[in-house]
Amino acid sequence: MTENTPKLRAALDDVPTYKPGKPAAADGPVAYKLSSNENPYPPLPGVLERAVTAAGVLNRYPDMACAGLMAELAERFSVPLAHLATGTGSVGVAQQLVQATAGPGDEVIYAWRSFEAYPIITQVSGATPVQIPLTGDEVHDLEAMLAAITDRTRLIFVCNPNNPTGTVVHRAELESFLDRVPSDILVVLDEAYIEFVRDAEFPNGLELYRDRPNVCVLRTFSKAYGLAGLRVGFAVAHEPVAAALRKTAVPFGVSHIAQEAAIASLRSEDALRERVDALVEERARIVAELAGQGWTPAATQANFVWLRLGDRTLDFAGACERAGVIVRPFAGEGVRVTIGETEANDIFLRVAEEFRKEL
Ligand SMILES: Cc1ncc(COP(=O)(O)O)c(C=O)c1O
Repeated sequence: MTENTPKLRAALDDVPTYKPGKPAAADGPVAYKLSSNENPYPPLPGVLERAVTAAGVLNRYPDMACAGLMAELAERFSVPLAHLATGTGSVGVAQQLVQATAGPGDEVIYAWRSFEAYPIITQVSGATPVQIPLTGDEVHDLEAMLAAITDRTRLIFVCNPNNPTGTVVHRAELESFLDRVPSDILVVLDEAYIEFVRDAEFPNGLELYRDRPNVCVLRTFSKAYGLAGLRVGFAVAHEPVAAALRKTAVPFGVSHIAQEAAIASLRSEDALRERVDALVEERARIVAELAGQGWTPAATQANFVWLRLGDRTLDFAGACERAGVIVRPFAGEGVRVTIGETEANDIFLRVAEEFRKEL
């Protein structure tokens, strides 16, 4: 470091870097990307056309208020307009939420392992992460999360279903948890994968937030809707929180193309349902085959499966890559594998079968 180095905030020193899922190789053997929980399908019917039209006015700034999209969301999810806020992906909205609630000296509680952006956005805000280990079943330990609350706690993330395990917390436990969190602490229900859930005990955050002013629901167009590349997500929360989100948003963050594509996607419900159903069926096939091979995958309700492999994690990821599929390893812990194209899933299953024999 030289004398001329600009002074940067000390809080940045320990911020972990976000590791995006490795892309599939551009050349070489067939390679499928199963590392980022993306949707393998192309945009829904009508989306591309609307996005292309929107691209015709790239010389203009987008509508900062996202009025068209907000109106559509309000109607689709039966929530008041004033309870909505959009952002650059739900990770953008999550960052806005942390900025709105927590700074140096404050604490943000979340399960671990969970979505890897949580520690980053917490530390960038200068706040202190409080990570609560998942239970032996890879589920949020809500009792331990409650016990970790202090007078410095400002925000609690509940990632439901959880990334990278796909596990869910059920309605009764979540309601009991919410009833006991002090009402001046914001609880964020991150529901990025909700469309893939088929568990009847799963609590829809939009039902829980209505009479709870300290609950905020996060949703995204990146996963089921297949718009990961456009960066658009939204929050549903009571007015003070939604208003704070508008203050912490990057002005003009959500592009006109993203707004228009999201509107077209919302109008393509039937096609969305078909695709999600197909992925859910594929998930059931994969989980059953893995079980048949002798694995005990976590009880996933998302568009991915989690295998806890401990110190064999990187070996497994390497074997997958050599066979033509890129998965997401968390060294020393396990691999997360997105439900993708049938051909890709079959390659993964073949690798899993071979690997299992060696264990
Ligand atoms: C739990 C969870 N929340 C939020 C996100 C962010 O998605 P996006 O910013 O694309 O909406 C992800 C992405 O992987 C996620 O897994």
